[in-house]
Amino acid sequence: MSTSSSPTLRKIGILTSGGDAPGMNAAVRAATLLAAAKGVEVAGIEHGYRGLLEGRFRPLGPSDVTRILREGGTTLGSARCPEMHERSARDLARRQLRDHGVDALMVIGGNGSLAGAYALSDPDEDEAPPRVIGIPASIDNDVGLTGLSIGVDTAMNTIVDACDKIHDTASAHDRAFIVEVMGRDCGYLAMTAAVASGADAVLFPEAGKSADAVVEQVLETVRATRRRVGRSKRAIIIQAEGVSISPGELKARVDERLRAEDGEGLEIETRVTILGHVVRGGRPSAFDRLLGSRMANVGVAAAMAGRTRVMTSWMPPMDLPPEVGERSKADPYCLLVDLGAALEATRQLLDGDSPLAQWRTQVFAGLETVLRL
Ligand code: F6P
Repeated sequence: MSTSSSPTLRKIGILTSGGDAPGMNAAVRAATLLAAAKGVEVAGIEHGYRGLLEGRFRPLGPSDVTRILREGGTTLGSARCPEMHERSARDLARRQLRDHGVDALMVIGGNGSLAGAYALSDPDEDEAPPRVIGIPASIDNDVGLTGLSIGVDTAMNTIVDACDKIHDTASAHDRAFIVEVMGRDCGYLAMTAAVASGADAVLFPEAGKSADAVVEQVLETVRATRRRVGRSKRAIIIQAEGVSISPGELKARVDERLRAEDGEGLEIETRVTILGHVVRGGRPSAFDRLLGSRMANVGVAAAMAGRTRVMTSWMPPMDLPPEVGERSKADPYCLLVDLGAALEATRQLLDGDSPLAQWRTQVFAGLETVLRL
């Protein structure tokens, strides 16, 4: 892990990038207050890397952030900025940071945004690259080397709340519902929400099932719930986006097969609910406010200490090899991990190569029959 030779911190830049996540504002607020308390200037950069390229900097002080703790989304604005893959854009971004006197940049975002921070701070591309501190924030929970990213808890609660409501109507009609949730290539939200909402099945990309196998899993689930005696025959199936078959096609194929079977007077059409961006919105949960604030605290302390190319991580008691991560002195529940190692762990998680991804897949394969009972 690298430490800059120039630890002076006069001005810290903060941006939020990629898909917004509830709790990003808590991190911006805490970082601003903590920096201001130490006499460090704060520059808020609007709309992520896009705003950085366009020079959209504005000073942030306590009065700008006092009211944002409870707000969802990000008051700084966010954007996806594929130009950051290009060297010319990164050169411009570094010039903007220099011109605005920013010594360290805090990047609050997911996988792609953190990869952008890593590239921006590459010493092979610039003799004096900006110091960068990554703060993982993405509802997908697909960032490696952290147990949780900012926004996951709120998103999970939103899904569980929606599924509780769907349970009511599904039970009333003995219907099967396929509920699609966000998560891009990661099934974490679907898996955890399935357990927390008492769903009857969960479909996630890490299982690596073909479309045919997914159809069979859903049919098995519906048949099993129809065999239930003395209680509702409803089926709630949570599907992560990224599964090999779309919910619409899945519904069509399942309905066709169900129609060919004996419906026993039960509804033989499934219903589809796509939760979509609803999952990303809303007021952050208490936990996400806390996580955002605590990660910002660790991030500001790291910036003050002249650290660069590190990412804050939420990992209750677990030790990592010293070259990969160290427990933060600013918060014993947080680690400060090497940003490059975190990005490599993210790749392994998404490719299904990591022990964690394999463990999740194995656990849920074992739970398939249990959920249907
Ligand atoms: O990465 C967060 C996320 O919400 C994913 O779950 C989803 O696939 C994607 O962003 C949606 O992106 P957009 O808001 O650009 O449509």
